[in-house]
Amino acid sequence: MSVAEVFESMAYGPAPEAADAALQWIADHEPLGLFIDGQWQQPLGGERFDVINPATGGKLTSVAQAGAEDVNAAVSAALRAFDAWSALSGHVRARYLYALARQLQRHARLFAVLESLDNGKPIRESRDIDIPLVARHLYYHAGWAQLMAEQFPGYAPLGVVGQIIPWNFPLLMLAWKVAPALAMGNTVVLKPAEFTPLTALLFAEIVERAGLPPGVVNVVTGDGRSGELIVRHPDVSKIAFTGSTEVGRIIRRETAGTGKRLSLELGGKSPFLVFDDADLDSVVEGLVDAIWFNQGQVCCAGSRLLVQESTEERLLDKVRARMEKLRIGDPLDKAVDIGAIVAPVQLRKIQELVTQGVAEGAIMWQPSWACPTDGYFFPPTLFTNVAPAATVAQIEIFGPVLVSMSFRTPSEAVALANNTSYGLAASVWSENINLALDIARQIKAGTIWVNSTNLFDASSGFGGYRESGFGREGGKEGLHEYLRWIGGGKEDDPVVPRSPRRRAQDDQAGINQLPAIDRTPKMYIGGKQVRPDSGYSRLVYARSGEIAGEVGEGNRKDLRNAVEAAHKAASWADGAAHNRAQILYYVAENLAVRSREFAARLISTTGASADEAVREVETSVERLFTYAAWADKYDGPIHRPPIRGLALGVPEPIGVMALVCPDESPLLALVSLVAPAIAMGNTVVAVPSEAHPLSATDLYQVLETSDVPAGVVNIVTGRRDVLARTLAEHDDVDSIWYFGEAEGAKAVELASAGNMKRTWAFSQSRNWDGGWSAQSEEFLRESTQVKNIWVPYGA
Ligand code: NAI
Repeated sequence: MSVAEVFESMAYGPAPEAADAALQWIADHEPLGLFIDGQWQQPLGGERFDVINPATGGKLTSVAQAGAEDVNAAVSAALRAFDAWSALSGHVRARYLYALARQLQRHARLFAVLESLDNGKPIRESRDIDIPLVARHLYYHAGWAQLMAEQFPGYAPLGVVGQIIPWNFPLLMLAWKVAPALAMGNTVVLKPAEFTPLTALLFAEIVERAGLPPGVVNVVTGDGRSGELIVRHPDVSKIAFTGSTEVGRIIRRETAGTGKRLSLELGGKSPFLVFDDADLDSVVEGLVDAIWFNQGQVCCAGSRLLVQESTEERLLDKVRARMEKLRIGDPLDKAVDIGAIVAPVQLRKIQELVTQGVAEGAIMWQPSWACPTDGYFFPPTLFTNVAPAATVAQIEIFGPVLVSMSFRTPSEAVALANNTSYGLAASVWSENINLALDIARQIKAGTIWVNSTNLFDASSGFGGYRESGFGREGGKEGLHEYLRWIGGGKEDDPVVPRSPRRRAQDDQAGINQLPAIDRTPKMYIGGKQVRPDSGYSRLVYARSGEIAGEVGEGNRKDLRNAVEAAHKAASWADGAAHNRAQILYYVAENLAVRSREFAARLISTTGASADEAVREVETSVERLFTYAAWADKYDGPIHRPPIRGLALGVPEPIGVMALVCPDESPLLALVSLVAPAIAMGNTVVAVPSEAHPLSATDLYQVLETSDVPAGVVNIVTGRRDVLARTLAEHDDVDSIWYFGEAEGAKAVELASAGNMKRTWAFSQSRNWDGGWSAQSEEFLRESTQVKNIWVPYGA
């Protein structure tokens, strides 16, 4: 085809993703084994089964069928690992989960290609949806590990958790289960589905590489028999299952009376409701995501289209036109919308149900084009003229089959929507928010999407009502699935253990035989290192009385520039909280890498002992983790005022904050003030310790290498009270925190009256205790202001 012809037709060419690296990974690991107690082992029974590429029907490799001895070994390993793992501080577990997230991101493409080869889902989906969401789950739960002691006093982990997952989102379901379980201190025996075991084995490899203690995560492959062995094992404290309602029911019966905890995420037949005022073009794209995403093999697929009668024909015409343009084929082709069905048995099930639908009198429509004949493909299918009691309207098809029915009134829509034994999810489409929210309230399902569909995030719990199961995955509520109440109060978070070698190294910190290379610490404004406007520097003295260095003498002009830079960086607040969390973690990572150097600086400037200095750096790293953890979790309340409706309390950042630091623990103090403020989306102008500013000027190098956008953190050195007063008077500063002398605190409060900026001032003589040194939600409250959004509803 010539370029001119392509230009005329605008036809897609093939855009294949190379499978070489994934195939090589398989070849390098054959014969694939079981991951038990940190070791790769072959199944003791010697049984194996084939793993098929559903897009070709060809064999990819074979995996082990875990038998009783293998499952026993995995559970024993997990039990042995439990005491030490659960006794670690949340911070240490957070570091492991963080390491898993980083590992996963470094190998993201390999995971995505392997997933598509194994499952048949389009690479666009595995690459852009599944894998990023997996990373998000790991990061998010690293955060909860960090906050566990503080947020869940009186709760303890359960022990060994058996996790059994399906084939539709192999790695994502793994992450939904493994991340919260590990975060809360449990150990895991996970069994992937028999059709899709490969990414779980690759995950086991990164578990090994991230250095998790042996036995904390065990991965055993096998079919339902292996699953049954896990379910029955007496040392397993909880079963977390996602899959068919049928198997869920078996597991419920099996575990009854055993004391095992259980969470079940089962099937669905989710309604997709379209009212006559909906934006139909958005609805059509929503439907593509609802029922043709992952070939319709989605537990919360919007498989029942319920459309208001007056709009039905118009919408269905658009839907058919869109279906005609969907592209089905090689999952590794980046321009493909629909990939292959996971296995012949699933394809047969879809075919049988579709045949039954036609037999029962429904009208079937499929696009004019044909599916590939290699592999297991099924075309997007639309059923109309469907009776509410018809098989295709009631049974979960788990394929790319949409069933359409109509309604006249909102109450009829609700009745139809709830006419199912399931209750996993629903989508409601209307431009009338009153109506949409009222319908959302009446539908019995765990998740309702308004004018949207298939939205998932680690922060929002997912799970069902009724026969769709119970328990939630994600969000704070999801953590309770992996905790038990033991009563009692808050326990102290144990300190981070240090190896003897590390301790010896740390004790050496600060001893440097060579004369230092002269350095010129500058200020940090708008992402640039700048010299002071005044052209003056001030001497900084070490505890010994010797000169430790010089820093710029900041003035009014420097502050003006810094405030302006902070305002220009305001879009920091608009980005996802998840990104802010990631950047804070990254700052922690880079600070930890240079911990010796920072400790040495503290020893020489503040006179701290080696132990104190090391502890200050470690605590600073930990504090960065804490506020990274909070970044995407400091949610607002939903109020229930005496109206028909809701008021959503949304914490918003304050804007540009001035942070004036104390002299004590100069690194930790700066980190303790800056981290919560920027975690909440503020941008800051920080005035570091007047006496010991060098840790702060060292820190900007860490900020520069950690993707902190220019202007989010600005550092101006100089005389504290002079700078503080200028900042307090500045009309473009929205809030000021001050930690210094009583006089200075008063001056800040007085000067702030100009634009009525918020102040949070501490002084040695007034309210010093528990001031900057604490780590608490108070810092988040002081970094935010709550906006209440009232949303009355009523149809
Ligand atoms: P399934 O429920 O049989 O399998 C899910 C997992 O459970 C797999 O890892 C399997 O090995 C394991 N398993 C099977 N029998 C077990 C037992 N007795 N004890 C413990 N574990 C057991 O799902 P399957 O066979 O893969 O698919 C059948 C149907 O289930 C699909 O056609 C679809 O309708 C539905 N399904 C629903 C999913 C959802 O997310 N809601 C996911 C996968 C399937």
